[in-house]
Amino acid sequence: EFHEHPKHVSFSSDGPFGTFDRQQLQRGFQVYQQVCAACHALKHVAFRDLEHIGYNEAEVKAIAAQFQIPKYDEMTGEVTTAEGTPTDYFPPVAYGGQGSPPDLSLITKARHDGGPYVYSLLTGYQDQPAELLEHFPDSKTPDGLYYNPYFANLNLAMPPPLMPDMVTYSDGTKATVDQMSKDVSAFLIWSAEPTLEKRRQTGWPILGFLLFATILGYMSYRNIWAGKK
Ligand code: HEM
Repeated sequence: EFHEHPKHVSFSSDGPFGTFDRQQLQRGFQVYQQVCAACHALKHVAFRDLEHIGYNEAEVKAIAAQFQIPKYDEMTGEVTTAEGTPTDYFPPVAYGGQGSPPDLSLITKARHDGGPYVYSLLTGYQDQPAELLEHFPDSKTPDGLYYNPYFANLNLAMPPPLMPDMVTYSDGTKATVDQMSKDVSAFLIWSAEPTLEKRRQTGWPILGFLLFATILGYMSYRNIWAGKK
C-alpha cells in the first residue's frame, strides 16, 4: 500500500474554538488567484464574499474587474463577456490539458480531511519509490501524469503547481512551497464554509442554556422532594 494519509498540519480554524486567520486567507487567495485560477474554477464564491476575509469594497471591485465573466443575453441567445463586478461569481475556466481540474469551492468538504489533504497533495509530489517499481513494474507513472502518494490512485494529471517565490505576498511573508500550500489550503477551508465561525459561535449560548435548564430542573426536583424520605 503506497497511498498515504494526509500529513498532520494544523489550521487556525481547527477545533471548537478555531477562527480564521484573515491575513492567511488573503495570502491563500493570492495563491489561488495567481496560480490555481489558471485551471480551477471557484464557482460558489462571489467576489463580494472576499469582504469577509478582509478586503474592502474598492479592493473587491478591483479584483472582480480582473476577471472576464460570461453573460448570457436572453434576447439574442448570445454569450458575451464583461468585466466582473462584486456581485459576480468566479467564472468557469477553459482548460485544454490532460484530466479535468475540479471546481475548488467545496473541495475541502468533498475530500476526507480536506485542509490537510490539499496541503499534502500540494507538497507531496515525489519520485516513484523504487520499491513500487520493483514489485509492480507496470505501475510506472504514465507520460503526462505525476506521482503523488496522497492522491487516491497515486498518479494525477495536475503538474506540481507551486514553485518557490511564485507569488509575492503583499504582507511580506516568504513564499515557500510549504507556506503557499498551507495558505491556499486555509483559503479553501474558508471557501467551503465561510460561515464556520458563526456556526460555532451559535453553539455556545445553546450549550449554556441547556446547562442552565438542567441545573434548574435538578433544583426543582430537590425542592419538590424536600422533606420526603
Ligand atoms: C486536481 C488543487 C493548480 C490542474 C486538483 C485537486 C486539487 C487541486 C485539490 C483534486 C485532487 C483530487 O481529486 O482529490 C490545486 C491547487 C492549485 C492547483 C490548490 C494551486 C495551488 C493547478 C494548475 C493546474 C491544475 C495550475 C493546471 C496546470 C489540475 C488537474 C486536476 C487537478 C488537471 C485533475 C487531476 C486528476 O484528476 O488526475 N487540483 N490545483 N491544478 N488539478 Fe489542481
